[in-house]
Amino acid sequence: MPTRRSLRVRPLIVGAVAAVAAFGAVLVMPDANAAAGTLGAAAAQSGRYFGTAIAASRLGDSTYATVAAREFNMVTAENEMKPDATEPQRGQFSFNSGDQIYNWATQRGLKVRGHTLAWHAQQPGWMQSLGGSALRQAMIDHINGVMAHYRGKLAAWDVVNEAFAENGSRRSSNLQSTGNDWIEVAFRTARAADPSVKLCYNDYNIENWTYAKTQGVYNMIKDFKSRGVPIDCVGLQTHFTGGSSLPSNFQTTLSSFAALGVDVALTEVDVTNASTSQYAGLTQACVNVPRCIGITVWGVRDGDSWRSSESPLLFDNGGNKKAAYTSVLNALNAAGPAPTTSPTSPGGTTSPSPSTPPSGTGRIVGAQSGRCLDVPNASQNNGTRVQLYDCNGQANQAWALSSSRQLTVYGNVCLDAAGAGNGSAVQIYSCNGQANQQWNVNSNGTITGVQSGRCLDVWGTGNGQQVQLYDCNGQANQRFTLS
Ligand code: XIL
Repeated sequence: MPTRRSLRVRPLIVGAVAAVAAFGAVLVMPDANAAAGTLGAAAAQSGRYFGTAIAASRLGDSTYATVAAREFNMVTAENEMKPDATEPQRGQFSFNSGDQIYNWATQRGLKVRGHTLAWHAQQPGWMQSLGGSALRQAMIDHINGVMAHYRGKLAAWDVVNEAFAENGSRRSSNLQSTGNDWIEVAFRTARAADPSVKLCYNDYNIENWTYAKTQGVYNMIKDFKSRGVPIDCVGLQTHFTGGSSLPSNFQTTLSSFAALGVDVALTEVDVTNASTSQYAGLTQACVNVPRCIGITVWGVRDGDSWRSSESPLLFDNGGNKKAAYTSVLNALNAAGPAPTTSPTSPGGTTSPSPSTPPSGTGRIVGAQSGRCLDVPNASQNNGTRVQLYDCNGQANQAWALSSSRQLTVYGNVCLDAAGAGNGSAVQIYSCNGQANQQWNVNSNGTITGVQSGRCLDVWGTGNGQQVQLYDCNGQANQRFTLS
């Protein structure tokens, strides 16, 4: 977790700010056409993320850590959150290396995907030797134990990994032999364990739409959606290595899954010899599909790859950008505006329906989430923390910027920083003219507190994500569009 600084409150600044004109007139928008210079920033322009697998053992390598922190805004633990790592002995959980990655990432403003809870591979020895109802219970206990530790902290979990065989039927495994319902039991358990995190099914060789395995997984997701089994996303590993390559119908696969009502993501991308055309093509397929929410490559430099002999990644062993890097960056920079977000949070929370907004106000939309700065339940109570929520055009999302840099809602209630340090709550409060209620709306999309100098910041993108102050870090979770 980030280090806390002291919450010293600076003296009141009254009348020291230059006058600013009314809301609509003063907004300085970030240039939507400016090309971003990193993968994460380029992806964020269309509301997506760009991630990498991270190995805890490599974080001490300064080239590795520097490139990773600069380029990516999402992280997956390559091995450290798998069952053998997190529950080495039955009932004894170990989160040291998983937390090392989580802390490294979040301290730098990167988000984290959890990988993975139920899988035939990388099981601890004790689990491998179980079967039947004992294994079923062990799986449930494992999901509960790991998800409790990371509750509320992750962007997504790969709940079940690689459960299908190449012919489109279920893979035979000790988990499958506990009964065909093991996958839905895993998802139902996961939803109850952490209702705030997106729940994904993840697999490889499901990129070609006409392939039997793709159809097998598609039919399972369709069935789950029709029966209300909780599932939010499908991860396509996208290993175009080991003999696989980009199929021409990849975008059809992505849009077909998305049409079932799930997000899709490319979760473990690597490409033999980092073919620029395949990297550009897979990136383009994702940006063409509104519910393709992000891309993760399976490692930073070629030598970090599990298939290093195929030199499949975007950086060479010296940490230099390869040609494929540029092809991916260009495709991300050319993408359209932010995709439409899903209508409900993972848990299916419904939106409040407050009154109509007054004229002369606008919305404040998170660049990463596409969601609006929102006062929960249209509360007018002092101290109510503001959050992200699906934009609804209502009065509790209608903000005005005053000439004294106040951001007001409901006409006369101010956006207010409860402190000045990292993690300080951002709330509504009766306007008092003080510096903790004054905000600079900056041309780079950030909104900074006059008192703290810190940025409005969110940890995640989902409905209900609370807004806080944090050191400005240049990432998309600190950029907002005012309209
Ligand atoms: C791989 C890791 O990269 C290796 O370090 C490890 O030895 C084996 O697992 N599909 C997955 C990933 O879901 O977890 C795998 O990662 C690669 C294939």
